[in-house]
Amino acid sequence: MYSTNFLRETARVVQRVVLVLLLNLTCHNINRSSYLPNATPVFSNLSTPDIESSLITLNLQGHFIFNDTHHVANDFGNIYHFLPMAILLPKTVSDISTTIKHVFDMGPNSELTVTARGHGHSLQGQSQSHGGIVIRMESLKQPKMHVHTGEPPYVDVSGGELWINVLHETLKEGLAPKSWTDYLHLTVGGTLSNAGVSGQAFRHGPQIDNVHQLEIVTGKGEIVNCSEDQNADLFYGVLGGLGQFGIITRARIALEPAPKMVKWIRVLYSDFYSFTKDQEQLISSDTSFDYIEGFVIKNRTGLINNWSSTFSPRDPIQASQFRSEGKTLYCLEMAMYLNREDSNTMNQVSIS
Ligand SMILES: Cc1cc2nc3c(=O)[nH]c(=O)nc-3n(C[C@H](O)[C@H](O)[C@H](O)COP(=O)(O)OP(=O)(O)OC[C@H]3O[C@@H](n4cnc5c(N)ncnc54)[C@H](O)[C@@H]3O)c2cc1C
Ligand SMILES: *[C@@H]1O[C@H](CO)[C@@H](O)[C@H](O)[C@H]1NC(C)=O
Ligand SMILES: *[C@@H]1O[C@H](CO)[C@@H](O)[C@H](O)[C@H]1NC(C)=O
Ligand SMILES: *[C@@H]1O[C@H](CO)[C@@H](O)[C@H](O)[C@H]1NC(C)=O
Ligand SMILES: *[C@@H]1O[C@H](CO)[C@@H](O)[C@H](O)[C@H]1NC(C)=O
Ligand SMILES: *[C@@H]1O[C@H](CO)[C@@H](O)[C@H](O)[C@H]1NC(C)=O
Ligand SMILES: *[C@@H]1O[C@H](CO)[C@@H](O)[C@H](O)[C@H]1NC(C)=O
Repeated sequence: MYSTNFLRETARVVQRVVLVLLLNLTCHNINRSSYLPNATPVFSNLSTPDIESSLITLNLQGHFIFNDTHHVANDFGNIYHFLPMAILLPKTVSDISTTIKHVFDMGPNSELTVTARGHGHSLQGQSQSHGGIVIRMESLKQPKMHVHTGEPPYVDVSGGELWINVLHETLKEGLAPKSWTDYLHLTVGGTLSNAGVSGQAFRHGPQIDNVHQLEIVTGKGEIVNCSEDQNADLFYGVLGGLGQFGIITRARIALEPAPKMVKWIRVLYSDFYSFTKDQEQLISSDTSFDYIEGFVIKNRTGLINNWSSTFSPRDPIQASQFRSEGKTLYCLEMAMYLNREDSNTMNQVSIS
């Protein structure tokens, strides 16, 4: 069914870094400029020194930084640079709750904004705060990751935890989250505020569809649990809520048994129609792959040439035979999860 097949056997964990990513960027197509802060923050009758000294009086386990805030005035996009007044490095959920309660009590005249920051991998200033308070969620190590191995299995993690750490911890129990992002150095709270999309989403939904429960610090500083049965409006507001409905301090993530091996396949297309036709057929087939993702590739950097080094000599057609200079190419990437018993049959699976 494929015009060109490049097969490669591989046994490895599900962790990968993918360089070219198209699908996921759609979550950032929102026009931020309409609600970005004004050029100069206005604190009305509350001066910056007043606010700083009031923040210092708060009784926290963690602490504020006021003098060295430039390192959170950037993100992966490197387009916007908003210097905050303060960074909160929280140690406990109540540090976050106390701070937000304090800001809420100052009233709207303070015009002080509070932004949760995960790994700062947004592109358009979403994890920055102009003249406000940035909460560095990675400082929050609470609760300690706890894997529940019963039925159904899940893990409770801090909103500031990186997905790569969630993977390592759950693999110790032979388990793994059901739905992923491609790149794993992102925080749980950061991707659950967007969607969390990768090649498992066609089967399990994005990461926001694979959460049992959240603990949230609301805009008034209250600490609230929510799920589809409890405070459901808050639960569905926060998931994919772009950080606007509360701060995710804990998430209960759905797990499944981790595959022992993965058969990993990349297929290159020069024709968009065949690419989408194959992809649609694969995702609608019941007996198909566990991971399917499509990419658009522009061969500007010799990227594809570099790929050929990852294809084994047994490949039917080498990547180098693909003429694509400056042209747009399409790639389907697929993986099939296997256990050791299946390994003899894995090359025989066919998709009709
Ligand atoms: C190299 C790279 C690869 C990527 N790969 C994928 C991918 O495969 N799939 C995919 O879906 N996306 C992908 N993304 C996009 C990524 O998921 C989003 O940019 C995500 O928001 C980044 O997570 P972060 O931890 O860096 O969050 P940040 O950028 O720090 O924050 C993102 C938003 O979430 C809010 N936020 C952060 N933490 C919390 C919290 N605890 N509670 C409430 N709100 C919070 C912030 O205020 C901000 O609005 C990728 C981005 C990059 C740069
Ligand atoms: C974004 O919003 C601003 C302000 O509302 C508007 O001027 C601009 O045209 C918008 N840009 C796009 C690409 O929609
Ligand atoms: C601050 O200004 C607002 C109006 O902008 C006013 O209502 C309020 O009373 C003032 N507060 C103080 C403490 O002066
Ligand atoms: C910021 O202040 C802290 C303590 O007040 C001090 O230890 C640190 O060196 C200061 N950093 C900068 C960059 O001035
Ligand atoms: C929130 O959920 C956690 C875990 O289920 C539980 O331990 C805690 O008591 C709950 N808190 C509230 C306020 O319900
Ligand atoms: C080629 O691949 C190597 C190893 O996988 C990597 O270090 C290098 O950055 C790649 N080069 C390009 C141009 O992608
Ligand atoms: C990709 O482009 C480079 C030049 O940019 C070219 O040398 C190479 O042959 C192209 N690779 C493929 C697979 O077409």
